[in-house]
Amino acid sequence: MNNEKNKLLIYGATGYTGKIIAARVKKLNIEFEIAGREAYKTQKLAEELAVGYHIFDVDTEYAWEKALRDKTVLINAAGPFQFTAEQAMKACLKAGVHYLDISAELETYRLAQSLDSVAWEAGIQLISGAGLFVSYDALVVHLSKLVSEPKYLKVGFRHYGGFSKGSVLSSKNIADLGILIRKNGDIINNPDPKSKIFSFGKEEVECMPTPLGGIILSYKSTGIPNIEEYFSLNLPAIKLPDLTAENLPDGPTKEERAAGRNGISAELTGKDGRVVKAYVDAPSGYDLTPLSVVAVAHRILNGDFKVGYQSPGSAYGEDIIKDIPDTYLIDNNA
Ligand SMILES: NC(=O)c1ccc[n+]([C@@H]2O[C@H](COP(=O)([O-])OP(=O)(O)OC[C@H]3O[C@@H](n4cnc5c(N)ncnc54)[C@H](OP(=O)(O)O)[C@@H]3O)[C@@H](O)[C@H]2O)c1
Repeated sequence: MNNEKNKLLIYGATGYTGKIIAARVKKLNIEFEIAGREAYKTQKLAEELAVGYHIFDVDTEYAWEKALRDKTVLINAAGPFQFTAEQAMKACLKAGVHYLDISAELETYRLAQSLDSVAWEAGIQLISGAGLFVSYDALVVHLSKLVSEPKYLKVGFRHYGGFSKGSVLSSKNIADLGILIRKNGDIINNPDPKSKIFSFGKEEVECMPTPLGGIILSYKSTGIPNIEEYFSLNLPAIKLPDLTAENLPDGPTKEERAAGRNGISAELTGKDGRVVKAYVDAPSGYDLTPLSVVAVAHRILNGDFKVGYQSPGSAYGEDIIKDIPDTYLIDNNA
């Protein structure tokens, strides 16, 4: 990797989450440029941030080549990722640029997994799911070290702050997969989904069975063979024909985001039946994701990465949580 090209590119920077990511990168004085498919929005944002920009459709290979030429790492914030991840990953593989996205779509995790050997050859780190799942995965890695032979993992995710337009659009893609769990190492449909109460410090919250990223990402990080995931809000039940850009807000306001916190609570059972519990107390989702993905990008820019398909936990272990501001891992064992 050429050390002189120590720059970051954010694709999809004009989106609701992309803008918060760009603001965070700017705050940290990281050298970066932005890219997007829409000329006016991209140019306007670049002027506001005083950074260089590139305007191109996700399918335009030569434009990717040009935009990535002097970059070390890409943050792909353009979701739904089913339409952008493959093109962006392949462009990074070709350019020798590390790839991160903030996808919550299991299919893009599988795609990254399928590109493992090519990523090795290209010498790049490929992480799909470097948003909310960074602290989630750090929590699971932490617990996995507290028992011998971790067997059963249950994770409850308490989301605060509503949903962005982009998340609602992407959620259909996630909900359509059904309630998936990992059982004895395989991903299957949960035959008997039931709600479960999780403890977030002083608060007990009923969470509904929902497939999140851990069945792929935390499996990659720890190899725990049985993983069930729960969410404290149901996915928005909006049918696709009702979804238009006009009738959805971009996302929660800064004040709404600041008014509450996200929690991730996990329980892990070892082979001997011992149960360990811990939870993460973190800023609300649309603040947590930018803080997390930028923390990972920052590590990469400092030369800290593992080549190939990675999860946040397989690349950085539990330690990465210390890089995410205002985010705390708390053991919950009596
Ligand atoms: N798990 C997590 O950590 C987490 C957290 C937050 C968000 N997300 C995900 O991140 C994604 C973005 O969310 P958001 O709230 O920022 O949504 P958003 O406000 O709708 O922004 C989406 C951005 O992606 C661009 N885009 C969308 N489809 C594209 C395509 N086919 N080609 C090129 N650019 C495309 C949009 O460009 P235009 O303006 O030109 O349409 C826009 O810049 C969603 O998938 C969401 O689920 C995940």
